[in-house]
Amino acid sequence: MAVYDFDTLVDRRHTSSEKWHLIEQDMGPGNDDVIALSVADMEFKPAPEIVDALVEAAKTDIFGYDYATDGYFDALVGWMERRHGLAVDPAWVSLSDGVMPAVNTALRAVTHPGDKVIIQRPVYYPFMRAAENNGLTILDNALTLADGRYTIDFDDLAAKARDPRCTAMLLCNPHNPVGRVWTPEELRRIGDICIREGVALLVDEIHADFAYPGHQVTLFSTLGERYARHCIEFTAPTKTFNLAGLLCSNVIIPDPELKERFDVAAENIAGLTVSHFGLVACQAAYEHAGPWLDALMEVLEANLALVRDFAARTEGIELIEPEGTYLAWLDCRGLGMDADALREFMRGKARVYLDEGILFGQSGAGFERVNLACPTALLRRALDQIGAAIAAR
Ligand SMILES: Cc1ncc(COP(=O)(O)O)c(C=O)c1O
Repeated sequence: MAVYDFDTLVDRRHTSSEKWHLIEQDMGPGNDDVIALSVADMEFKPAPEIVDALVEAAKTDIFGYDYATDGYFDALVGWMERRHGLAVDPAWVSLSDGVMPAVNTALRAVTHPGDKVIIQRPVYYPFMRAAENNGLTILDNALTLADGRYTIDFDDLAAKARDPRCTAMLLCNPHNPVGRVWTPEELRRIGDICIREGVALLVDEIHADFAYPGHQVTLFSTLGERYARHCIEFTAPTKTFNLAGLLCSNVIIPDPELKERFDVAAENIAGLTVSHFGLVACQAAYEHAGPWLDALMEVLEANLALVRDFAARTEGIELIEPEGTYLAWLDCRGLGMDADALREFMRGKARVYLDEGILFGQSGAGFERVNLACPTALLRRALDQIGAAIAAR
């Protein structure tokens, strides 16, 4: 296996990196010592195989209007088959410049303003904005936390789905931020409820390539035709290979009528566009960068082990063990601080900028989301700083 560099820290302060810019934006100048472990991109350079393809394209290509070639679809189909056992028919695929643009488009396609949409808080906060911006009322099928693990309240889900104004559910699989990899049984139960009640199922699978040992992500459409025909699946190489800035995602819609509705909605908004470099990077990633991802998973497992040890020896902090994603959800309620105090403590005292749990909904108050996708030395430093700040309280 090629040796990849997951140790070098690339200094992204004062670059166009949103994650590092947020420190100055929220805390003001003079805070360059604060470590950012927030926004879900990685502190790692992309796989050299992807960089090579981009450089080659920059040198040789003409940047006119593009379409996705057979080579692009072969790469996508091959990845989904090898990694997820999903036989994608290219006719099911619509391209988009991002999962959230596609989620917004899908909401326009399957709901009307005034409808209701189910989400499961605490959840990736742009889901809430997408619902609200599209004139939808949120029905929160709140996740249940017991014994350090989140599960779904299916009775509550069935009751909410029964609401005649409820027309869509936004499902996050694996779930950001709580890290659950939903089991086939859980997914089937969700699917059965949504099919029975005529609730369109929008499944965000952007984190699907990250599962820890003992867990296997099930792509919703692999459950069988009945389920596949009822869903819109959002996938992307951007989270997997750290390419968010290149804007590329593949929306999988096995039902032709549903796909037509999505495509028309997309055309009415911004079109089905992907950048030239997004196409090049996605194809190269799916063709050649599998070994990079496998090597990355080992680093993520080591980083997760660090956080696990840290939580085990730190009073007031519990790790909600992630089954997938590169995000760790820390239950900090034992520190006895409200959301404002916890934010101030992490940023002001520990000098670490995390995604505060309350962003993901009120049920996230007292939690912090830690991005594990960084050199181990940086994560160790951040955890040491949090530990020292707690000891000094
Ligand atoms: C669950 C989830 N969906 C979507 C996105 C964003 O995807 P995109 O950048 O393709 O819009 C993220 C990014 O963190 C995410 O965690």
